[in-house]
Amino acid sequence: MPPYPYPYKFTINQEDKCSSQKPFLVILVISSCHDKATRTAIRETWGNESNYIGFEVVTVFLVGISAFRFKSIQWMLEEESGAFGDIIQQNFLDSYYNLTIKTLMGMQWVATFCPNANFVMKIDSDMFLNVDYLIHQLLLPELPTRTNYFSGDVCTDGEPIRDKKYKWYVPVEVYPNKTYPPYCIGTGYVFSADLAKKIYEVAQVTTVMPMEDVFMGICLQKLNVPLTQPPGHVFNRYNYYDRCIFHKLVAIHIGGKYQLQKVWQDFWSKKSLGCKN
Ligand SMILES: *[C@@H]1O[C@H](CO)[C@@H](O)[C@H](O)[C@H]1NC(C)=O
Ligand SMILES: *[C@@H]1O[C@H](CO)[C@@H](O)[C@H](O)[C@H]1NC(C)=O
Ligand SMILES: *[C@@H]1O[C@H](CO)[C@@H](O)[C@H](O)[C@H]1NC(C)=O
Repeated sequence: MPPYPYPYKFTINQEDKCSSQKPFLVILVISSCHDKATRTAIRETWGNESNYIGFEVVTVFLVGISAFRFKSIQWMLEEESGAFGDIIQQNFLDSYYNLTIKTLMGMQWVATFCPNANFVMKIDSDMFLNVDYLIHQLLLPELPTRTNYFSGDVCTDGEPIRDKKYKWYVPVEVYPNKTYPPYCIGTGYVFSADLAKKIYEVAQVTTVMPMEDVFMGICLQKLNVPLTQPPGHVFNRYNYYDRCIFHKLVAIHIGGKYQLQKVWQDFWSKKSLGCKN
């Protein structure tokens, strides 16, 4: 199982990003050290904090330490961080297997450096995110501040793999029950920012599993926080691009940076045209 807890240290941090603002939404993007090209595409599209007039949105990229231990990779990352101020890194090995550690780093960062945020969206970097729909149709800024809210593509029938042949095999000692508690598919989910601290704290005393979305479900069960079903299937979608379909979804698999840039150009430039209901 991924080594946790362990006092992982921030090696690149943005301590002051939230000090002068109270973001309505923090977007935690799962990224990897070498993938500057995708970060660039996201900064120019849905991750651009200036897009969302009237709402403070903060976008940060979560990375670990590159498995290729070339100093140059770290230097380039530090330079990128200096230029954009949006990279967060701790000293764990950046691998898919360590995704839970990376997500918990995001929770710790929100709890410590951005505790006055309202909501947090965690999302993979190969997704399209419709922030306007997320804010106005789901998070509803006109409502009083919400707590203990967690929503996404809810999975209710997950089971641990008990066959050692498989990479994601889960020993009974690690997770004894036959089924997993409900959890939100990890490609993109949203939660009220108070949960960042609660999840981070409960994770310190829970056996960490590499399937980070299942692990979040386990933490939420321990915290007695139920998942909220979104109105319709708006997270974790696979759709061909159609502006008016994307208009009413939150998170869609987009394939890659070129696809994202192409889709965004059309989506964003025609935003004011609206769509029929
Ligand atoms: C973000 O949006 C602002 C306002 O539209 C624009 O001026 C800026 O160039 C954009 N940033 C990037 C990285 O595309
Ligand atoms: C996860 O990160 C830890 C801490 O850096 C490292 O020791 C371990 O090898 C990593 N595991 C994998 C499978 O990458
Ligand atoms: C196993 O299931 C029981 C009953 O649903 C629950 O109370 C308990 O927390 C679960 N154990 C784990 C490790 O999730």
